[in-house]
Amino acid sequence: MRTRLIKVDKWNPEEKLLEEAAKIVKGGGLVAFPTETVYGLGANALDENAVLSIFRAKNRPVDNPLIVHVSRMEDVHQLAHLNEMALKFMERFWPGPVTLVLPAKGVVPKVTTGGLETVAVRMPNHPVALGLIDKAQVPIAAPSANRSGRPSPTDAEAVMEDMKNRVDVILDSGPTDVGVESTVLYVRNKEVVLLRHGGCPLEVLEEVAPVLVPTKDNSSAKHSPGTRYRHYAPSVPVVIIDEVGRWKEHPAYLNNISNVGFVGLSAPPVETKEEIRFDSVVHYGRGLFAALRAMERWSVGVILVELPSESGIGAAVRDRLIRAASEWE
Ligand code: TXA
Ligand code: MG
Repeated sequence: MRTRLIKVDKWNPEEKLLEEAAKIVKGGGLVAFPTETVYGLGANALDENAVLSIFRAKNRPVDNPLIVHVSRMEDVHQLAHLNEMALKFMERFWPGPVTLVLPAKGVVPKVTTGGLETVAVRMPNHPVALGLIDKAQVPIAAPSANRSGRPSPTDAEAVMEDMKNRVDVILDSGPTDVGVESTVLYVRNKEVVLLRHGGCPLEVLEEVAPVLVPTKDNSSAKHSPGTRYRHYAPSVPVVIIDEVGRWKEHPAYLNNISNVGFVGLSAPPVETKEEIRFDSVVHYGRGLFAALRAMERWSVGVILVELPSESGIGAAVRDRLIRAASEWE
């Protein structure tokens, strides 16, 4: 297939263009589209074959379930069994970067849920995403629109880089706002468990209800299936600048001392060939994935990264950096 890149106005999406893309979704095709977090790779969530083609296009393990996107609160009822706690989170945070994992209803194909009894749902806060879902008249399953294991795409160029001729259409409305993916919560009536740090910080979620944060030792089963896999990694080794200085002995650094890239907030600790510095942790979140992809294009030999502190969006940025680096440890 040949991928068509269609520019769409973010705030006033052209009806005709949305309808065109929606027709492709209805017909079982693949449409990459912007959300407030990252670009998604969308297909009709209720069409088994269409969903299977998402997995093929991304080269994604089939037991890693997808998030189903809706454009109206009431559309969740057809997909999942709601509880009071879920309603509270929806009321407060939708549309927005909060994904809720709930008991699935029978209409949701097993390929969409990775064989689980639960389904992840979210209502994105982006006019193009909402317009597309609305016009398609079906919920849209959409993982991030990167090849499996790579940094998520935060603009249409990054989607093209990974997905050229693997999707029918890319709707391009410029760079995304949040830059890291949605926060994923497992929601029971009395218990809310964090499955993935993301665009909505814990401190903000906890204004609604306490959120349990699983640690490595207290439960591996409670992590989201996707977090088991290598993730967010560019093709260049990522090395975290740790406080005790172990990074200075990392072979990827030692082998590339004259070809270092740096991504972070402060001044880099060594001489660099390329550096990208953000002036706030919010900007770090917004620009992180694009920065990793830029370093790749600039052919640095190693990317040294600085972890921000854990508060606010910092927790999600840290999580993505640690995963991006873990492949190379
Ligand atoms: O911001 C986002 O969430 C973006 C945009 C496109 O909406 N999507 C996204 O999708 O990041 P993806 O597939 O890259 O990540 C979805 C995460 C994975 O870690 C997956 O394992 C988890 O959500 N997940 C999906 N369904 C689940 C379920 N039923 N139970 C537990 N975790 C689930
Ligand atoms: Mg992803």
